[in-house]
Amino acid sequence: MSDFVRIVEVGPRDGLQNEKAHVSTANKIELVNRLTAAGLPVVEATSFVSPKWVPQLADAADVYRGIARRNGVDYPVLVPNLQGYERAREVGVEHIAVFTAASEEFNRRNINAGIDESLERFRPVMERAKADGVRVRGYVSTVLGCPYQGEVAVGDVVRVAAALHAMGCEEISLGDTIGIGTPVKARDMLRAVADSVPMEALAVHFHDTYGQALANVLACLEEGVRVVDSAVSGAGGCPYARGASGNVASEDVVYMLHGMGMTTGVDLAQLVDTGRWLASLLGRETTSKVGRAMGAA
Ligand code: HMG
Ligand code: MG
Repeated sequence: MSDFVRIVEVGPRDGLQNEKAHVSTANKIELVNRLTAAGLPVVEATSFVSPKWVPQLADAADVYRGIARRNGVDYPVLVPNLQGYERAREVGVEHIAVFTAASEEFNRRNINAGIDESLERFRPVMERAKADGVRVRGYVSTVLGCPYQGEVAVGDVVRVAAALHAMGCEEISLGDTIGIGTPVKARDMLRAVADSVPMEALAVHFHDTYGQALANVLACLEEGVRVVDSAVSGAGGCPYARGASGNVASEDVVYMLHGMGMTTGVDLAQLVDTGRWLASLLGRETTSKVGRAMGAA
């Protein structure tokens, strides 16, 4: 099994969408550029959702236009509907991510649609993306629990992940949106999804609300997953997931992987610097343990 793990850095999107501090467009651009310079192979740059819903990322077009895109690095953006797709394409986006959930009520509060309705909404987006040669990632939220419904059946996660894959999403990211999961549950969920979608097409996305994120990542690596979403400095959360705290910190994931003899292509020292810079912009300390330890050294 490959020892290369592809880190999908979601800080500029999943991180900043939920931070209260105002971050200027210039600083958002600098964040993406710094992450690129640190060697991240995928940097989710921003989100073309409705600015009425997520005002923090209303400057998506300016951010995307401003970043110094580097060959070989992917810069996906979130797109909820055709309107978002068109806005993204106007500025030259070549890689998008659509997103839905495994629980109905969360989906309604997040994108104002039930699960099946959201899949229907993606159809024209997928058709356009296929015709334009745009690559598509698909997110499934609430895979280990929902803030409104509580338990989420694994079968529901499998159904939604398989539907996104069948529609043409090349990669499916399984999100523990509220960070409630524990390792055995995470592993069992991944195993079940991998019966319907090839493991090579799966990614895991953990939030650290209960301090379980790194343990969950490890359990899923042992199961064979090789794509991990994380956010520098542990930034973020989801504006429509009550109680959700930050994503697992990229610094912590990279430190763990390198310690296990796995490769990521990421320069940890540069990543730590970027995380500390971001935390200072946000007016707080980094939540990354590795960021604190290495920054203090
Ligand atoms: P809606 O209100 O049902 O949509 O929202 P609408 O079509 O009725 O449009 C309402 C207004 O928004 C209209 O403007 C549209 O033009 C505008 P008005 O006529 O009132 O002036 N609008 C847009 N503007 C710009 N770009 C667009 C767009 N679409 C509509 N793309 C909608 C439906 C999906 C648009 C809305 O619910 C939305 O944008 N939701 C996004 C919420 C969000 O971003 N949540 C966080 C991301 S998900 C997440 O974090 C989880 C994840 O990280 C994985 C995990 O952790 O589990 C991915
Ligand atoms: Mg998330």
